[in-house]
Amino acid sequence: MSEKAKLTLGDKTIELPVFTGTEGEKAIDITKLRAETGYVTLDSGYMNTGACTSNITFLDGELGILKYRGYGIEELAEKSTFTEVSSLVINGKLPSSDELKTFEHRIASHSSIPTALQTMIKAFPNNAHPMGVLSSNLAALSAFYPDMLAQDLTGPQKDEVIIQLMGQIKVLATYAHRHSQGQGFIQSDKTLDYCSDFIHMMTGKAVDKEVAKALDILLILHVDHEQNCSTSTVRMVGSSKANPFATVSAGVDALWGPLHGGANQAVLEMLEEIHKEGIGYKEFLTRVKDKNSSSRLMGFGHRVYKNFDPRAKIIKVACDSVLAKLGVKDPLLDIARGLEEVALQDSYFVERKLYPNVDFYSGIIYRALGIPTNMFTVMFALGRLPGWMAQWKEMLETPGFKICRPRQIYTGEVNKKLSR
Ligand code: SDX
Repeated sequence: MSEKAKLTLGDKTIELPVFTGTEGEKAIDITKLRAETGYVTLDSGYMNTGACTSNITFLDGELGILKYRGYGIEELAEKSTFTEVSSLVINGKLPSSDELKTFEHRIASHSSIPTALQTMIKAFPNNAHPMGVLSSNLAALSAFYPDMLAQDLTGPQKDEVIIQLMGQIKVLATYAHRHSQGQGFIQSDKTLDYCSDFIHMMTGKAVDKEVAKALDILLILHVDHEQNCSTSTVRMVGSSKANPFATVSAGVDALWGPLHGGANQAVLEMLEEIHKEGIGYKEFLTRVKDKNSSSRLMGFGHRVYKNFDPRAKIIKVACDSVLAKLGVKDPLLDIARGLEEVALQDSYFVERKLYPNVDFYSGIIYRALGIPTNMFTVMFALGRLPGWMAQWKEMLETPGFKICRPRQIYTGEVNKKLSR
């Protein structure tokens, strides 16, 4: 007998079906709530609201578990590659070696952008934030691929535009960086793997295999993360059947915020501030705990993880090995370690279940790889693109999917009349 929830409102009691996911998660299905009671639910920030079902990613915030299509990220980070994981997340199964080669070849064949966009990138001031350059150029791609503006893209068209975006986001990201440095653009080298080509296009130099491997692990860890702010934005915008370029551009804009993907840049700026001021961890954490201060321990806390973010654990280990292999001694890493050690013993953080998240250590590795701070959130977007597009495709292919349109409860003025 399937589980039911009973809801009593006044003298009326209704039963609502309980939905159980494949990992045992439970949800009360309120699809018929308003029709049967006239009531809606209220849940600001969607803290307790499931927006959809999904077969792509599962995370358990209490146990610190993260899986893509059922595979643990620990195993994928150790044994897979960013392109293989992207194919897994997008297509729902691990590709054969021939399928992976074809996937990678098709991405490489899309690793260029229209000349007009190259001109557009050059029109930005050098100090423009690369997330703004990325977002505007992603939306501008819509001007060059009219076939992809159709209201109902076919399955093959969706697959093609996802692969196209994987190739072109790499180009837009590296061109935005090169322009910000006043340097010329470097064409993609189709003989290189995705991460090596990215580094080559950023630096123009021979690629260190350790650096490419470290970047590959970082991108794997960023691929998808259930209905986070930017993925929910992609679903929201995509649900109006906006074209895929506008949809992914909106995802970049949501990710940019310092409470979300922008946190990796904010962490480095926080560590640099502590280093420059020469203040101790305890003094900084006192500021963070002061309700009147706007300081936050960036890279700590999470809406869902109330235990260690499993990605932070992997990145912390990678941090040590990458810096050792590159012979990099970074005082900011020592500050980060010290902050983490003190915070994890401080009741303010322990009581609020605030632990390091994916952004706490990632910036230190990016810095060691020679990637500038203002590019950190762009790196997050590069990694998250396959996840966004997998979720976009899953939503559009869900039978009977609807445009996202939450309700609200009005609390403003009533019965106002013009006095004239
Ligand atoms: C990402 O959703 C995802 O999956 C996102 C992400 C992904 O992969 O897509 O995991 C990527 O965005 C990771 C999070 C990156 N953001 C940061 O590191 C910014 C710093 N963290 C916070 O701003 C905060 O922790 C959030 C935004 C991440 C979560 O905020 P919540 O769940 O809304 O929690 P909250 O703001 O209600 O805080 C609860 C309490 C408050 O104190 P009280 O009012 O109860 O006294 O904890 C405090 C907050 O002040 N708090 C912090 C804190 N985070 C929460 N205090 C100091 N420093 C912090 N970082």
